[in-house]
Amino acid sequence: MVKQRVLSGVQPTGSLHLGNYLGAVRNWVENQSQYENFLFVADLHAITVPHNPATLAGDTYKVAALYLACGLDLNHSTIFVQSHVSAHSELTWLLNCITPLNWLQDMIQFKEKAVKQGENVNTGLLDYPVLMAADILLYQADKVPVGEDQKQHLELTRDIVNRFNHLFAGKKPVLKLPEPLIRSEGARVMSLTDGTRKMSKSDPSDMSRINLLDSTDDIVKKIKRCKTDLVRGLTFDDSERPECNNLLTIYMLLSGKTKSEVAQECLDMGWGQFKPLLTETTIAALKPIQEKYQAIMDDLGYLESVLRQGREKAQAQANDTLAKAKTALGYSLAL
Ligand code: TYM
Repeated sequence: MVKQRVLSGVQPTGSLHLGNYLGAVRNWVENQSQYENFLFVADLHAITVPHNPATLAGDTYKVAALYLACGLDLNHSTIFVQSHVSAHSELTWLLNCITPLNWLQDMIQFKEKAVKQGENVNTGLLDYPVLMAADILLYQADKVPVGEDQKQHLELTRDIVNRFNHLFAGKKPVLKLPEPLIRSEGARVMSLTDGTRKMSKSDPSDMSRINLLDSTDDIVKKIKRCKTDLVRGLTFDDSERPECNNLLTIYMLLSGKTKSEVAQECLDMGWGQFKPLLTETTIAALKPIQEKYQAIMDDLGYLESVLRQGREKAQAQANDTLAKAKTALGYSLAL
């Protein structure tokens, strides 16, 4: 039986944090044997905000190494770098020309990031979701496992597919309609300093997030100082207690316990008892990832060979779709 195809990626802006892990990477790893997976480092997306050329390549390697350290298995998954496959940029241009401008202006992430950047908003930031659509469509992906914040971009991708196929495909669609895969738990991990805001790489305070490569001391410090409330007894799903729900959810996902087990365990706990438990659980969950990451980074030759093989496999699939899209648009490929 032919397996369905999964595609997803993370931007190499800063280190991966628990939101990226619990919302995305962990789910790729858990489900990888069911699918044929294309997982890439979104380094073209990384320059839609001001970036540092001196660290871009190193950060890209770091994310690829973290994919492996988190458990991606090359028997099921192809790992590659977005900028290594030029079809991503080329299909973006073709899709740009069929995407109405107001679809992009309506994107929530664009509006939020544009406000942050003030006058310095580049065209790439507006065009970001079209590049994301190209990423997905080149691989004819069936499923796209992401966190909640990417849902609107997936809807836009589906709109682009429908428009492209409607305008340019005959009876047989050229581009496949992908579906988001968003888990109910972990899809929106919140900041440690404000339970109403998403944990994010772009938050200026590093205290707001736990990075996968944080030292034990940093994890201890961040959890000790994270925002809580004055209520005794810890419960899920109380809208008046966003921090409580977030920290219990993180604990549940990292400990592997069920929601009812955690609810039972923490029912009568105070924060003084819960915080050390969460700290210990987080350190234990991240330790094997950090050890594996270090071993991979000590053997860059291996990492490069993984990315080289990934590029070849990705290129073959991406170029095939690109050729179909160009033909549908009327380009002549024969020469
Ligand atoms: P990025 O790099 O912002 O985030 C990577 C993945 O992590 C998820 N995520 C979260 N999940 C739960 N809680 C959070 N606080 C949290 N923060 C981030 C994101 O939803 C995402 O799944 N545009 C994408 C990268 C991308 C992509 C793609 C993804 C480029 N092309 C094609 C899928 C398909 C992004 O910036 O993710």
